[in-house]
Amino acid sequence: MNNSNSSSELGNGFGRVIGIGSYLPENILTNDDLAKIVETNDQWITERTGIKTRHISDPEKDTTESMAIAAAQAAVKDAGIDPMEIGLIVVASTTPNILFPALAACVQAAVDADHAMCFDLNAACPGFITAYVTAQNYIRSGMVSCALVVGAENLSNYTNYEDRGTCILFGDGAGAVVLKADPDLQYDAIMRAAGKRSGCLRCESVMQKGKEKTPEFIKSNYINMDGQTVFKFAVTEVPKVVDDILAKTGTSADEIDYFILHQANRRIIESVAKHLKQPIEKFPMNIEKTGNTSSASIPILLNEMKKDGRLGEGKKKVVISSFGAGLIWGAFQTEM
Ligand code: UT7
Repeated sequence: MNNSNSSSELGNGFGRVIGIGSYLPENILTNDDLAKIVETNDQWITERTGIKTRHISDPEKDTTESMAIAAAQAAVKDAGIDPMEIGLIVVASTTPNILFPALAACVQAAVDADHAMCFDLNAACPGFITAYVTAQNYIRSGMVSCALVVGAENLSNYTNYEDRGTCILFGDGAGAVVLKADPDLQYDAIMRAAGKRSGCLRCESVMQKGKEKTPEFIKSNYINMDGQTVFKFAVTEVPKVVDDILAKTGTSADEIDYFILHQANRRIIESVAKHLKQPIEKFPMNIEKTGNTSSASIPILLNEMKKDGRLGEGKKKVVISSFGAGLIWGAFQTEM
């Protein structure tokens, strides 16, 4: 044995998506509902973001944990596998209701995946793609051959409903995929970060010894965002990383069936489409109905696309890209 990492030597290939599931809370918050809380209106929100409604968790019923479990159970059922085959569970969340145990361990118990190793990962909105890329490398190394990757968020717990610059954007939900090793699968990824630029998007933990509960500190416990700076970051870096993943795989944008982007703002997605000179129809969106669900946005959209037949046969070439707090961003290209 040597330490080389070439795929031919490792031989396991990467993980193909064989199951997808999602969960969206029943409660719906409309733009008109928000206009009763803060100074805003449906026209402004629709024109500036593309969002009309978002699903909001029911405090009596929904937690990040319960939503992660519901999405994971649906994905495992969709995959039709014996859960004992799952070797790894990664849950991406930036809004867990528990600090420990890991949400992944709760998911493990609920889906009876008793052979899986489990951990959570926080990379904010790009948490799902970070978890996906991480799981792919566990599969590629041969350590596991089947993985469950979940993105789950209860952002309404961290949303300041007095701040019209953020409260109009966010929604709750969860999505999950099951990956299974396939030596013939095409897959490649690029992940990037710029921690020095993190100030524009931040949320401080409420539990900090010695911190007085001043109005400033209480405000810092909610999502704080300089929207314009995040917007400029996204429209600059997302097209670059998409161009770079296409160059890395030697694929032209024309050959890609779908560019599946984090659902943060319709205008960001339109800007990327314009840069890539690709029709907007190749950029699926559900932001109108879900708002920005952070690390859950991509698997929720994937599930919608599988249900309506746009994905699922493994024949579509897709580029998936996400971005957010960190700043962290990236893209991967595969077949679904
Ligand atoms: O998941 C990743 C993280 N998040 C993002 O990707 C978010 C990226 N940023 C954005 O999506 C946009 O910056 C926002 C939607 C948050 C804001 O849109 P914008 O076009 O950048 O608006 P702006 O902050 O430049 O504000 C323009 C005007 C301001 O008024 P003045 O100063 O021109 O009089 C704001 O006070 O719009 C005002 N405004 C609003 N008006 C009505 C800001 N929020 C609202 C609102 N309703 N909700």
